[in-house]
Amino acid sequence: MQINVAPFENSFAAEINGLDIQRGINKRQFEIIHEAFLDYKVLIFRDQPLDDKAHQTFGMLFGELDGHINKSTRHKVLPSVQIFSNVKANGETTGVHPEKGTQVWHTDKSYTATPSLTTILRSPEIARVGGDTLFADMTRAYDKLSDDMKKTIEGLFAVHDWARSREKSNERAATPEEIKAAPPVEHPVVRTHPETGKKSLYIGNHSSHITNMDLATGEAILASLEKHATQSALIYRHKWQIDDVLMWDNRCTMHCVEPYDAAKEKRSVHRVVVKGDRPF
Ligand code: SIN
Repeated sequence: MQINVAPFENSFAAEINGLDIQRGINKRQFEIIHEAFLDYKVLIFRDQPLDDKAHQTFGMLFGELDGHINKSTRHKVLPSVQIFSNVKANGETTGVHPEKGTQVWHTDKSYTATPSLTTILRSPEIARVGGDTLFADMTRAYDKLSDDMKKTIEGLFAVHDWARSREKSNERAATPEEIKAAPPVEHPVVRTHPETGKKSLYIGNHSSHITNMDLATGEAILASLEKHATQSALIYRHKWQIDDVLMWDNRCTMHCVEPYDAAKEKRSVHRVVVKGDRPF
């Protein structure tokens, strides 16, 4: 099979064809995927009926895997695989979307000191209506800011906080164990990509306020940056097909899941998250 990178027109996503991830990826194929990942930020591999072990093995090619803080989402046998599903063992729906925080704009695990480099998601079960995943290009968002706004946010740090993030997305409160595992951390509002050197906005629902600034002003700046970054011209909308594998660069994108009827529609995604560096 010949590996082929097919970028989407006017977008920052590309489809990678000619791979069988379940069978394994060789060095040359990995290099092509890695280069495309840095060029396009969101990669789509269609028709990849993976098992969880192969999913995990694929993730480990990119670095150390990071388990989810919410233990209830962890795979029973492979804890570095997380399952977000509204389908019960008897096949009925639970009626609620799991992890409501995934329905608001965020970048994965930014509430930790060394947030996610990439998330790799596969889709054994998809909603027929709704449930698309939307991505925002945060490098382009930074580039398109006015010079005044770039100056205003230069050198600012935001506090990213798992507990506050859950309050904002109306999820169950963080447990004392989770708060201990993920105390609030600070990250620059503009981060430099460690591999490409490009600057991106680094914000989203996990960011609660700006360090050394009054709460309301900091929240207003973060809200205005998010509004700017999620304008339709900066978005890629992923319409899921069964057995898609999607990977994205959390260092320079944000994402969220579009609402769907969680009582009528079944949606299950399995994911692995690769740990990244401390943002600078
Ligand atoms: C996530 O935010 O990692 C999950 C996205 C999705 O369910 O599409």
